[in-house]
Amino acid sequence: MVTIRSMDLEDTVEVYKLGKVAFIDENKDKESFAYSYWSLSAVVNFVENYIDLTFVAEDNDEIVGFVLGHPTYEKMELGYLEWVAVKSTHRKLGVAIKLIDAIQQAFVARGLNSIVTDIKQDNIASLSLFEKKFGFKVIESINFLKKDLS
Ligand SMILES: CC(C)(COP(=O)(O)OP(=O)(O)OC[C@H]1O[C@@H](n2cnc3c(N)ncnc32)[C@H](O)[C@@H]1OP(=O)(O)O)[C@@H](O)C(=O)NCCC(=O)NCCS
Repeated sequence: MVTIRSMDLEDTVEVYKLGKVAFIDENKDKESFAYSYWSLSAVVNFVENYIDLTFVAEDNDEIVGFVLGHPTYEKMELGYLEWVAVKSTHRKLGVAIKLIDAIQQAFVARGLNSIVTDIKQDNIASLSLFEKKFGFKVIESINFLKKDLS
């Protein structure tokens, strides 16, 4: 059975590896910029600074999913859900729903009154998850711009 618990420093390497597969390897064909800045140091930073906003999903002692967030935009009382991923073997079983429920409660416990995330337009699974299951609404779209300097 999959259970949700707070993350700790010992989980960081496993979470990094799971995220590398979900964000980098699974998007290799698309060469996605949006999913290119995943790093172990970023994962450690979440745990060191926002331990109450980091959760893992576990199945028989194996980490099969995680969610990482942080408070943001001083005075706006916003929680930012930065990263969520579930191992491919455990998808479509409601694991992401459990993880997002957990971080929503943690944002409320911090006194934050809304939650923001960003999703690529072609990430159908994630859009469906946030819009249909949790009632998120798209508020703005941005473009990444790039110029070759060589
Ligand atoms: C997005 C992701 C986290 C969903 O995890 P999951 O545990 O499979 O999601 P759940 O089982 O909790 O699904 C809940 C809802 O999400 C949506 N969803 C999940 N997978 C979907 C898919 N492949 N296609 C369409 N909708 C999907 C559905 O609305 C689903 O509800 P339903 O089962 O009633 O149709 C997972 O696919 C993943 O890790 N993707 C790669 C990482 C990523 O893109 N993260 C988001 C950006 S940070």
